[in-house]
Amino acid sequence: MNQPARKTIAPSKPFLEVLNGNQSNHIPFWFMRQAGRYLPEYRELRTRKNGFLDMAFNPDAACEITLQPIHRFGMDAAIIFSDILVIPHALGQSLDFVAGEGPKLDPIRDGSALAKLNTDQLESRLTPVYEALSKVSGELDDKTALIGFAGAPWTVATYMVEGGGSKDFSNVKKMAYGQPELFSTMIDLLVESTAHYLIKQIEAGAETLQIFDSWAGALDSDEFQKWAIEPTKKIVDLVKTSHPDIPIIGFPKGAGYNYIAYAEGTGVTALGLDSQVPTKWAAQALQPLMPVQGNLDPMALLAGGDALKLAVERVLGDLSDGQFVFNLGHGIHKDTPVEHVEELIGLLRS
Ligand code: CP3
Repeated sequence: MNQPARKTIAPSKPFLEVLNGNQSNHIPFWFMRQAGRYLPEYRELRTRKNGFLDMAFNPDAACEITLQPIHRFGMDAAIIFSDILVIPHALGQSLDFVAGEGPKLDPIRDGSALAKLNTDQLESRLTPVYEALSKVSGELDDKTALIGFAGAPWTVATYMVEGGGSKDFSNVKKMAYGQPELFSTMIDLLVESTAHYLIKQIEAGAETLQIFDSWAGALDSDEFQKWAIEPTKKIVDLVKTSHPDIPIIGFPKGAGYNYIAYAEGTGVTALGLDSQVPTKWAAQALQPLMPVQGNLDPMALLAGGDALKLAVERVLGDLSDGQFVFNLGHGIHKDTPVEHVEELIGLLRS
């Protein structure tokens, strides 16, 4: 008699199960900026490279860095080592990461500067990211998920117009309020390029995506609708047209009460919560809408000890009854002792 064909059942990854609204056997966790300067092995590799872009655009280095925290701690997901600013770079805007000062770009303040951007090199400049994703994808075990990401158009535009980080966003907000047509042209270019970039990341092995809108909190409610929700919805729609089942996490940092409008208006699958979101409110107002991820204050992790324990207990106590992925509310601080990360993971596993 013939043996019945053996069915291959796709192994379940706890992180993806939660994003898809299913049960998982434990609370999955990963940390924003889990690959980075707090890790000695990252700092060591960095001394052998010519700066951040040299690492991010080298598929072997990017793969190695992506896997560093996974090998050390075994998170439920790896996030590809890259940056949200690779999009303006690929569109032709000059970009430099100055050690200790953050990103520097040639600011775009008018139509003629904007007109210089184009998509001619988008593909060739982003190919190393796709190569890094396929390498990582080939190395992960069957429990660990791979996250691709991009910045949301509003947040990326803040860097493009300000020329770097900003305290008050005066230039970009002046453009958004004063020249909305010009600003829309920039946002539309970012929507198209970012959707394309995310789709290619899926095709290279990303199993879920996170959209970072780190400066969403700088917008008033009307502007939040216009520049955070609508462009994100367009990206989500474009990605879902070709990949309807891919879970997408939206992270509108600082959105406050507008998290509700964002959850209802963008089409994202899950919400990344920043540390300022009250966890009791999130459990009652957001978690019934979709799975949530967050939101330990990275400074509690920097501090460690009893403060860390208390903060972790509160987050877990308030959110772990619903669909939940444990994360920080923002990136790990570079001075965080590795022992504190071990301590945190010990708490999560116990
Ligand atoms: O581990 C991961 O989370 C993946 C890698 C990742 C980086 N940047 C690597 C990085 C991710 C997801 C990002 C996203 C990113 N980049 C955001 C959104 C999240 C957030 O932090 O709000 C933003 C706003 C940026 C822009 C950016 N890149 C800034 C402002 C800086 C300088 C500040 C800093 O932390 O150094 C960067 C540089 C950067 N991106 C580093 C890393 C590891 C530091 C590079 C180094 O000096 O070694």
